[in-house]
Formats: sequence, structure tokens, C-alpha cells
Amino acid sequence: MWNLEEFSASAGITVEELTAYMAESQRGEAPVLRRTPPRELADRLGLRDLIAKGGMTPESYRDFLRTFLAEGTRLHHPAYLAHQTASPDFPAALAEFVHGVINNPMNIYEMGASAATVEFEVLRWMLDKVGFPAGGGVLTHGGSLANLTALLAARARSAPEAWEEGVPGDLVILAPPAAHYSISRAASILGLGQRAMVPLETDELGRIDPARLPDISGKRVMALVAAACATGTGLYDDLRAIGEWCRERGVWFHVDGAHGASALLSDRHAHLLDGIELADSVIWDAHKMLRVPALAAAVLVREEGYLDAAFKQEASYLFYGDQGFDQITRTVECTKAELGLKIFMNLAWRGERGLGDYVASRYDTAHRFWELARERPGFEVPYEPESNIVCFRYEGADPVAVRERLMRDGTFHLTSTELAGVRHLRITVMAPATDDATLVSLLEEIERL
Ligand SMILES: Cc1ncc(COP(=O)(O)O)c(C=O)c1O
Repeated sequence: MWNLEEFSASAGITVEELTAYMAESQRGEAPVLRRTPPRELADRLGLRDLIAKGGMTPESYRDFLRTFLAEGTRLHHPAYLAHQTASPDFPAALAEFVHGVINNPMNIYEMGASAATVEFEVLRWMLDKVGFPAGGGVLTHGGSLANLTALLAARARSAPEAWEEGVPGDLVILAPPAAHYSISRAASILGLGQRAMVPLETDELGRIDPARLPDISGKRVMALVAAACATGTGLYDDLRAIGEWCRERGVWFHVDGAHGASALLSDRHAHLLDGIELADSVIWDAHKMLRVPALAAAVLVREEGYLDAAFKQEASYLFYGDQGFDQITRTVECTKAELGLKIFMNLAWRGERGLGDYVASRYDTAHRFWELARERPGFEVPYEPESNIVCFRYEGADPVAVRERLMRDGTFHLTSTELAGVRHLRITVMAPATDDATLVSLLEEIERL
């Protein structure tokens, strides 16, 4: 049984330490990341002793937690400009805490009626936002699983026999070369193989060129995949033109909105997703731009039946007498966390408007970076950003070396990517604390290096 006094004291310590951590992180008063080698860090944290002997107490936990937090990566730090992982808001953090205590894996309704109901309502809201009022959906542990699930639904439409008989050899998936790797990975997991991936023609920035979509006569197209927005550049494909092309040919249109579907919540940015309602399936990660800690992603399908057809599984101890509320038949996962609660809590606290304002402000700050960098000699930003992702170069500097140096110093955390075969530095503005002053000091720091 839990010692409730010990629980309460430890939870209090957690809140105190996390509050101090957040104050330091948001003000940028500590290095944005540390990369102490694992052996040294394991010693500093006393991991081996604790694993072998246990015996942690609330006070030794405080010391452990302090070091653990100090040695990690601070996603609320203004200089955190790296991966597309959320800078979580606290209501979603509370949901994680509740989940950790109650553990209601609600993929079958009897394992958590309230958690399941929250997921249903969150999905109803998301379906409405993308324009699938009569559609169906499910939350998964991440965008990669969501893409796989959506493509399974697509396969259920073009090759319903595949579940029983295996995959026919003539199925293809049309996608731009810059599609997130989880798409081509799904092709192999689904048994189509890489040979089924047909690259679409794009412009020099990797966006699908709607005027050069291929002749598909004689091909069995399982799905066409578009990006909203693309991982590398943060640029959106022309969903309306591509969606109309797909409609005319009866091609399943899948929109990977893992990162950029959240722009639907910003009045000034929703136009970037114009035409999304023409899709047959959409994925939307809450753990990117909805300020939810990893992971929580939605698979949204215009015709619900195809999601139900995606998995045709039997397991007599679980699947019988479903009253229509079980989600287990729609997910790769068997056990699933209360993912809906995290999304709901941010919505309940901030409202759709509050989350939309967050997305708009991060997109605006990235746009500001483009303006600032363009004004400074030596910087080259190859396109006007549409989202909170921007790629750039500094004349004569090796992007990999610059990034390494910034990380080593703990001053900035950036990523890099290839654009038209040339490596660029890349920022993703996630933290609410990142402002113009942060961006100016990044540019100055790069010039100095
Ligand atoms: C466009 C896009 N799709 C899918 C994914 C995969 O999402 P996850 O990391 O949640 O598996 C990403 C991740 O960056 C992405 O940017």
C-alpha cells in the first residue's frame, strides 16, 4: 500500500523543484542543455546504487531530481530552438501526473470510462476542426504510429483483401521525397516495401508541384501523402489543388499535419490548411504545437468505417461484445495511456483561442527571425517561413560545426537539415520565452563564432 504521507511529501518536493526549474528555464538562467557522458552522469546521479539497493527517501529524491533536471534539456528555455517537441503547458503536465497515479489505459472502455470519454470529445473537436464532422478518429502514441494507422485505413480501402491474404504487389504510395520518414517506414511495415514509394515532383523547396502530379493509369494508388507542414522546411503543400486532383481520381488523400495542423486554431494562419477537408485522413500531433508533453497524436478519417477496417483482429479475452466504445480495434497499441486528458486539460485551461494565440505567436516569431537575418550581411534564408520552422546559412560557416559549438557551450540548441542537397541550420521556435532579443543574440553568436 502507498504511504500517503510519503507520497504527499514527495509530490510537494516535485512541485517545489519543478517550479524552481521552470523559473530558471524560462528566464534562460541555465544552459539550455547539457550532454554529460552517460557513465559520468550515472555516477553523479547514483544510479547503480539506487538500482541495486533502493532506499530513496523524499530528501534524497529532492537531490536526485535537482541533478536530473539540471543535466537535461530545457524545452522552456528561450534558446531552445531545436526539435519539434512541445514546450509543455502545466495543465497537460497535471494530466500526466494524474495518469501516473491512476493508470487507466482506456483502449477498452471498462479500463477508464472517464478517460475514454475525454478522448472521444477531444477527437470530436479535432474532427470538427479539420472538417470531418461525420468522421472518426483515435489517439495514438505519436505521429509515426498515427501515419501507419492512417495508411492502414487507406490500404483497407484500396486492398481490403490484404489483411487476410497479404499485400498485392501493385500497390503504390505517392509522396514527396521530403515526406517524414515515418511514411516510407510505414510502407515497409505494411508490406509494400520501398519499391512502392513513388516520389512526387516538387519545387526547389520540396513542396509538391500540383501541376506535375503523375499519370496514374495502370497503377493501384493506395494513397497520396502531402505535408502540412513539411518537417525540414516548415512549408505547407497546396492541399486544395492536391486534394481536388485526388478527388477526381478516387485517390486516398492523406495529410500529414503532425506539426502544422495546429495552425487551424489561428485565424491568421488557418488559410495555410485550405483544402484540408478534402483529405481522407489527417494526422495531428498534440505533442508538437498544442503544448502537450510527448506523446499524443490523432488519426482523423473522413469515413469512419475505414478506420474500423484498418485492423481486423481477434483476441477472445478482449474483443467480444464491444458496446461501441472500445478504441482497441483502431490502434496498433493494446494498452494505451490517457492521451485525451492531456489535450483536454490544455484546452480546458487556455481555450481554443489561447492555444491558437500560442501557435500564432510562435509562427510570428519565426517570421521575425527571417526579417532579422535577412537584414544582416552573411546570412542567407532561402524562403519566407510559413510556420515556426526556418532554415538558414551563414556564409563560410559549417552548419554542423556551428551547431556543435552552440550545444557544447549550452548557449543555443538548434538542428540542421539538408535543403536541395545543401546543409542548413534550422530553428523551430517552440518556447513561449523565445523573443526578438533571443533571436538577435543567436545571430550575433553565430557571427562571433
Ligand atoms: C510531419 C511529421 N510527421 C510525422 C512525424 C512523426 O511524429 P512522432 O515523432 O510523433 O512519431 C513528425 C515528427 O517530427 C513530423 O514532423
